[in-house]
Parts: sequence; structure tokens; C-alpha cells
Amino acid sequence: MKNIKAIIFDLDGVICSTDHYHYMAWKALADRLGIYFDEVINRKLRGVSRMESLEIVLGDRAPEFSMEQKKALADEKNNIYKQYLNSMSPADLSEDVLYTLETLRKRGYLLAIGSSSKNTRQILNQLGLESFFDAVADGTQITHSKPNPEVFLLAASLLGVSPEEAIVIEDAESGIKAAEAGQFRAIGLRCKSNDPNSEISIKRLSNLLDIL
Ligand code: BG6
Ligand code: MG
Repeated sequence: MKNIKAIIFDLDGVICSTDHYHYMAWKALADRLGIYFDEVINRKLRGVSRMESLEIVLGDRAPEFSMEQKKALADEKNNIYKQYLNSMSPADLSEDVLYTLETLRKRGYLLAIGSSSKNTRQILNQLGLESFFDAVADGTQITHSKPNPEVFLLAASLLGVSPEEAIVIEDAESGIKAAEAGQFRAIGLRCKSNDPNSEISIKRLSNLLDIL
């Protein structure tokens, strides 16, 4: 890949395996409300903001709840989720991710996070990555979450690069769509968009080192 100066990583499911924590927290909430929830529904929540995720979890029952009640439900889920996050440490960073990040850093690429999560800073702190990235764009700084490209455009602008000079690494279809909508090249980690010609798919993060 030519003229690439920067790499923007999604966080949940790319740098760390927090997806299962999201699943368990949503499942606890859904069970309490008597709403069916499984891994298939959980996959639809990847890259999607907390409040939009809640709408998907509530499904047909969404109209039963006022906006205030929905905010309380989202808080309830987030409190359960944060208990899982609190147990995370640098040991939760896989060897593959660590080696890839350090090698890309040595090769001189600018590295950023582009995540819809409002818990991004806490997760980076727990993993010992609080000052590793050159820029962090997250759910606290954006109005529209993926598939809107806002978070990736913000990451690129914080790095001082154009979308053509950056690639985005994503595990979610909504994230691949967001990257493409922002004119970034996208690489799917164990994920492909519906357009088979639009991006490359890799099985593990270190496969990136062979492509760049
Ligand atoms: C994304 C996750 O990174 O962040 C989604 O893939 C999640 O599943 C979204 O809903 C928002 O996360 P948070 O931490 O702000 O609730
Ligand atoms: Mg993800």
C-alpha cells in the first residue's frame, strides 16, 4: 500500500476483546426486562453507539419506554459493563496486538484510535496504552457514530493526515462502512463488508505487517 502515513484502529474487537463484556452486560439487562437477546443480536451492536444499541436490544418493546427510562437503562448496562472493564489490565493485551503496534510504531506510522465508545479512555488506561497513540477519537467527541465517518475523520484531522493517507482497521460492518464513507481504505479484521471488492480482510492484526 502506497502513501500510507497513518493507521486508525477501532478499539472494541480490534485492540481488545471487550465485545464479550458488552454481550454479557446487554444480556443481563435484557434478561431483567424479559427480552430475548443472543450473540447474533449482539453482533448488530458492533460499532453502534450505546443509545442506538439500546434501541436494537429493546426491539419491538422500545416504544414502551420514555427517553428518561431509556437513559436509565443505558446507564444500567454501562454500570454492569464497567465492572468488567475494571478487571482489565495490560495482561489483556494479546501478544499479537502488542507486537503489531510496536512494529508499526518502529516503522514510523502515525497510530490512532477511532472508536464509538465513551469508555475508550478507561479501556486504554486499563490496558496501559493511555499515552501510546498519537491521537484518540472516541464516542465522547462525536455526534454521529459509525456507520457515519465522523470518528475516523476526527482521528485523521487530529493526526494531520487526509483520509487517502490513512487506513482504518475494523471488526464491524458498521465500521467498514464508516471508513468507506469517509474515503479511507478499510481493512476488515475477521470481517468483510457486503462489497467483496471494497476492502481487504485479515485474520489477525499482525497480518497487517505483511500488507503495508
Ligand atoms: C463500540 C462497540 O466500540 O462502542 C459497541 O463496538 C458499543 O458495541 C459502542 O455499543 C459504544 O460503547 P460504550 O462503551 O460507549 O457504551
Ligand atoms: Mg469493533
